[in-house]
Amino acid sequence: MSASGMNFTLSDEHKMIQKAARDFAQKEIKPIAAEFDESGDFPAETIKKMGEMGFMGIEVPEGYGGAGMDTLAYALALEEICKADASHGTIMSVNNSLYCYGMLLFGTDYQKENFITPVASGEKIGAYSLTEPMSGSDASEMRSRAVLDGDDYILNGRKSWVSGGPVADYVVVFMMTDQDKGYKGISAFVVDAALPGLIRDKKEPKMGIRASATSELVFEDYRCPVKNRIGEEGEGFKIAMTVLDAGRIGIACQALGIAGAAYEASVEYAKERDAFGKKIGQFQGISFKLADMKTRIEAARLLIYQAAASKENHKETGERYTLEAAMAKLFASETATFCANAAVQIHGGMGYSKELPIERYYRDAKITEIYEGTSEILRLVISRLETGLR
Ligand code: CAA
Repeated sequence: MSASGMNFTLSDEHKMIQKAARDFAQKEIKPIAAEFDESGDFPAETIKKMGEMGFMGIEVPEGYGGAGMDTLAYALALEEICKADASHGTIMSVNNSLYCYGMLLFGTDYQKENFITPVASGEKIGAYSLTEPMSGSDASEMRSRAVLDGDDYILNGRKSWVSGGPVADYVVVFMMTDQDKGYKGISAFVVDAALPGLIRDKKEPKMGIRASATSELVFEDYRCPVKNRIGEEGEGFKIAMTVLDAGRIGIACQALGIAGAAYEASVEYAKERDAFGKKIGQFQGISFKLADMKTRIEAARLLIYQAAASKENHKETGERYTLEAAMAKLFASETATFCANAAVQIHGGMGYSKELPIERYYRDAKITEIYEGTSEILRLVISRLETGLR
């Protein structure tokens, strides 16, 4: 598919990664998804295999352990993984977009060699840590501090809602180096989570994406070498926002995968289940729901492919794709909650039962409207860009 040239046929390479991801997800992930959702354990084994297949660093050049493919390849693979299980999708998305892609854009050669290669190949897990207990949507209001001391920064503070926090080997973290400068006083660092001074604190008991371990990270006099600072001092907020543009495409793909799984199960059920002497899909109350689900899914897909094409353009020209990424995530996430809600309704009691994955889709879909920019923040981003007003 080349969205820029409006050619809606996938290339052989794209079809290949889509099929590889679909086969793997259906065979290896789908059967274990309910068990990991229940336990909340991190699915280390399947994630390792995904690394071996090149899914943990799809856009990372082969020289740094990745698959050397483009954003569309990433989108296609991620959608397939999320159709089987959104938790695996979160881990894949954070590793690819928030960690590897950010470091590719802003890292030094030293950082790329040491901190991308092991993560893109799936041997190690990467995380991204911006949010704090008192700073979520208002991301620049952070309180964590990094203070220069010789060849190191000393990091102190509490970070929250870190996807992969309980298991990550390396974390890209944002901290204030100069509180007086507001967002221009924020800097980015890549830290080794095994070193002293980094404590993996409270694990979040979550409603959905339960196997994508999430926790607080507490920094207590953690020594981070200056050579691990990403970009210059004060560039952290721009780095965080630039990386979130890429991340938002990932979450849009996750939402598309959940919506697709909910839709496909609903079509099957509507064709099988009898009521009042007919298949329930013959009643308009059900069939119109299916029509709306399908239409929204395909519209979300086009917004995602447009955003993916804009991100490819960004690689060439540096032109921002904030608007396209925000629209794709906003629409796809609301499509996911719409479709998961409709799927529960179509399945009736069975939709509410843990015997089927439908209730899991419903719980998993909700996070896509919240993390990496709530729907409210995305509407603010889109409308500000369109009107120029603040
Ligand atoms: N790309 C590059 N630069 C950007 C940018 C982008 N997408 N967005 C903003 N900037 C720049 C602006 O140009 C501006 O720089 P200049 O002054 O040099 O022009 C600077 O950043 C400040 O921008 P704003 O004045 O617009 O900042 P703001 O504070 O008014 O609002 C916001 C910004 C849009 C509300 C932003 O804070 C935001 O997106 N908040 C949501 C944060 C978020 O998504 N958090 C999720 C965390 S990750 C997660 O969910 C957990 C996980 O592990 C998955």
